[in-house]
Amino acid sequence: MNIRIKVGTVEKESAEILAFYLYEDLPIADDMLTYCDNALHNIVSELIKKKEFVAKLNKTLILPTYGKIPAKRIMLVGLGKKKEVTLDKVRQAAGTTASIVYDIGIGEVTSVIDSIDMPASPEWYQAYTEGCLLALYTFQKYKYVLPEEKKELKTITLLLSHKETSKPAQEGVKHGQIIADAVCFTRDLINTPAQDKTPTILANTAKKLAGETGVHCKIVSTPELKKLGMGGILGVSQGSNQPPKLIILEYNIHAKNQDTIIFVGKGITFDSGGICIKPAKDMDQMKSDMSGAAAVMGAMKAISKMRLPQRIIGLIPCTENMPGSSAIKPGDIVKFYSGKTAEVVNTDAEGRLILADALGYAEDYKPDAVIDLATLTGSCVVALGTIATGMAGNNEELKKRIRIAGEKSWERVWELPLWDEYQEYIKSDIADIKNTGGPHAGAITAACFLSKFTEKYPWVHLDIAGTSWCDKNTAYTRKGASGVGVRLLIQLIQDWTRFS
Ligand code: BES
Ligand code: MN
Ligand code: ZN
Repeated sequence: MNIRIKVGTVEKESAEILAFYLYEDLPIADDMLTYCDNALHNIVSELIKKKEFVAKLNKTLILPTYGKIPAKRIMLVGLGKKKEVTLDKVRQAAGTTASIVYDIGIGEVTSVIDSIDMPASPEWYQAYTEGCLLALYTFQKYKYVLPEEKKELKTITLLLSHKETSKPAQEGVKHGQIIADAVCFTRDLINTPAQDKTPTILANTAKKLAGETGVHCKIVSTPELKKLGMGGILGVSQGSNQPPKLIILEYNIHAKNQDTIIFVGKGITFDSGGICIKPAKDMDQMKSDMSGAAAVMGAMKAISKMRLPQRIIGLIPCTENMPGSSAIKPGDIVKFYSGKTAEVVNTDAEGRLILADALGYAEDYKPDAVIDLATLTGSCVVALGTIATGMAGNNEELKKRIRIAGEKSWERVWELPLWDEYQEYIKSDIADIKNTGGPHAGAITAACFLSKFTEKYPWVHLDIAGTSWCDKNTAYTRKGASGVGVRLLIQLIQDWTRFS
């Protein structure tokens, strides 16, 4: 799909369809829409006056033009109230535009961007582009019998009336394309069945990504994991015949006078629960237990293509969690890279075990900030549903930055407390800690566990168990993997200033 920018007016635009954006609390303000309205005997203003079209967010109406203007049809797209417009509403309206044009199968659309009346800064064009491309995502690799053929949506033309806006528009579109490509890459990885994304396959995917982007990639396999004393990753992998891998991606590592930021992603390529096996219902969804890993890879793909200046490192521990005959057993004790030990009370609380090794290893880089993303707890889904990602951490400034990036990207986070009293829940009689804290505050006690390995640097944990998977289509997400975290991390780094 091609997104292009064109400076011009609708008077000469012979498009299949022209998309106009309207606010529910404003009359027609845009010159180009006024022109079309006049040419169409005021049908648009009449419909608005009679409230037959109310421009609520994502509401649409398509009208034929019967040759009165060069374009064959016009589409009205609602944006809601003018004062309440946000980047995400533009992203959504763009997604709605692209999905509807795709559905009617006409292959192209010209969007009259002036009608949005948005600031001429790249981030608005970035959001618009993201919305279009993310809405058109499909995952059909495994279909032999394809659903009814639809005409591909080949071109979206952003029509601007002022030449001066084309520069920020170009920049925003370029960034939006890179970002949407990264999110779709992440979605593909998550939607792929576990059989085709074993830790070894994921490691190869990371190597390929590194080759394409100039990121450095190192794969740590079993012998070296043993040498390093990564008992968490090794322990969880024992029940599977697939060997574990620790993927290390390094971007811009030799940059001078730049902060070092580490992303850690949980890479459980299938979570059966291990010996504490999960119920069969919805177990298939546990192929998505590597969503954190996929988000880190996607974010690094985009950050390297955008050539952002910071040093970024991705640490991605990957393994299956299976109940094979050598599987780790409830009561077993593992020793992590840091030397600390944990009693494995429940083999289904495996994410924190592999993250503990990676977070301990992160310390060696002397990072300025570490952010981990993990589909860590069902408890987080109970607390926040699929709307917000759970956040916990040890540094107010880093939490604030992530909160802001969350609002801008609309991958919002909500903080959970990491108070000392909660740490009591994970005390063990025979090891340093245990891997579950009982039935209460599961998302918090999981974060408490991680906090024992992050004491030496500013750290934020993001529990994406609820946000990584969509049960239904929305304006720009599709059923299945959401790709959450990718846009949040990119936004965070796009806005990054020296951290002290
Ligand atoms: N991968 C799961 C968490 C999860 C649940 C992700 C639902 C996405 C949707 C994690 O490994 C897990 O099993 N957590 C347990 C921990 C418990 C045993 C302490 C949970 O939340 O039930
Ligand atoms: Mn589990
Ligand atoms: Zn898991």
